[in-house]
Order: sequence, then C-alpha cells, then structure tokens
Amino acid sequence: MDKTKRKAVIAGNWKMNKTPSEAKALLEEIVPAVKDADCEVIACVPYVDLSVALEVTKGTNVKIGAENCHWAESGAFTGEISTGMLKEMGVEYVVLGHSERRQYFGETDETVNKRTKAALAAGLKPIVCVGELLWERECDITEEVIARQIKLDLFDVSAEDVKKTIIAYEPVWAIGTGKTATADQAEEVCGFIRAALAKLYSQEVADAVTIQYGGSMNDGNADELLSKVNVDGGLIGGASLIAEKFAAIVKAASK
Ligand code: 13P
Repeated sequence: MDKTKRKAVIAGNWKMNKTPSEAKALLEEIVPAVKDADCEVIACVPYVDLSVALEVTKGTNVKIGAENCHWAESGAFTGEISTGMLKEMGVEYVVLGHSERRQYFGETDETVNKRTKAALAAGLKPIVCVGELLWERECDITEEVIARQIKLDLFDVSAEDVKKTIIAYEPVWAIGTGKTATADQAEEVCGFIRAALAKLYSQEVADAVTIQYGGSMNDGNADELLSKVNVDGGLIGGASLIAEKFAAIVKAASK
C-alpha cells in the first residue's frame, strides 16, 4: 500500500451551520488561506448556502459539496433535493450516510446505497460515511459493523464508480465529542476498509480509493492522523467552521 498513490482530500462538513451571508464571509476567509494547498479542498455546505459558496469559490481550488441528496430524479418527495438539481448548480461532491442522518433521520444502509448510486449516475462524487457506535466498539464488533456498511452502502456500485467514491471513516463516538480516535485506531479501521474494498473489488481498486478519517479532527491532531498510510484525508466538522483551523488542517495534509 503506497500512500503516494493518493492525493489527500480535506473536506469540511458544515452540518446545519452558517446562513448564506455567514457562508460567504467564511469562504472569503478560507479561499485565500488554502490557495497553495497541495491536497484537494472541499466545503460541504447546507443547501441554501450552495449558490453563494459556488460563487465565492469559482475559479479557486476549493470545491463545493452538498450534505445529502435524494435518489429519485424528481417527484413527490417534499423537502428533498435531487442529484440533477445539485449537478446543474455546479456542485461536485455530496456527503452521504452521515451518522447524524442515520441517527436522527432514519437513514439506513439501503437508502445510503440508493443515494450513492444516484449520485454517481449523475456525475457527483459521493463521500460515504461509515463508522461504529461506542457500544459496538465496546462489544468488539467494529470490523463487522464496518464490513457490513461497506458491503451494503456500495452494493452494485461498479469498480469504476467506487474509485470516484470517497469513504469517510467516522467513529460515531468521536463526532463532536472532542474524543478523537488515536492515529493508530484510525489507521487500523481505514486499513480494514481498504482490505474490505480489496476483497469486494481488487487491490488495484482499493488502492485508488480515498479513505478519510472524521471525528474531532483539528489543527492539533491532524498531522499525526494524516501521517498514517491509510488515512488519506479528513472530513472535518467543528474545525471546518473556523478558517484558521481549517487552513491549518489543509496545510498538514499538503506536506
Ligand atoms: P467533528 O469534527 O465536529 O467531530 O465532526 C466530524 C464530522 O461529523 C464530520 O462529518
């Protein structure tokens, strides 16, 4: 496994934060701060911020993502947003299966799989989130949980498409808690995910997939987490809302 095969990808997941005017102000700080990045930089923002985010980042190295999408092309799905709507705006990425959606909004592996396939069919790059609950880790079933999520979330996704997919390993107990997985814990599970992909597809495919770590990653711990061979980047929540911290993580990934 050779880390140099993959460029690091740092993505902010803003969650339900920032109004359009606040989004504009934050991105106006982020854009100049990350302009020399030697990694991919993405900001995944609330739907209502997409328009201004695309405008502010136009012609820069910051790419824009959404935080979810529906699997149907159109129809009677009040409150949902289709892949075609995102694509037409110029959105490139979409976060899918985040644990907050699984926990609070009834997201299942089946719906994550449907959304992933729809996103890929529309030419969006999905960031598919997987991760175990604290209880599952304590019961020593982390690998079973992750293997199941990977298998189900990527069911019927072709080898070519999976290479365009980013997997984010986000242990649920580390999200927004200030508790980060140690670099060794992150590496262990990210390595396990790569091995699972190799089993499902091939080693060549597994080596091409970007696997991020997410969960209380910040400017203080990014260096160590990103030094691990199977940790190809980060999906950042809280620290992505502060330009200085986000830029420091981008800098750590650019080394
Ligand atoms: P925090 O960085 O706030 O823990 O959130 C991580 C996350 O859920 C990113 O998707």
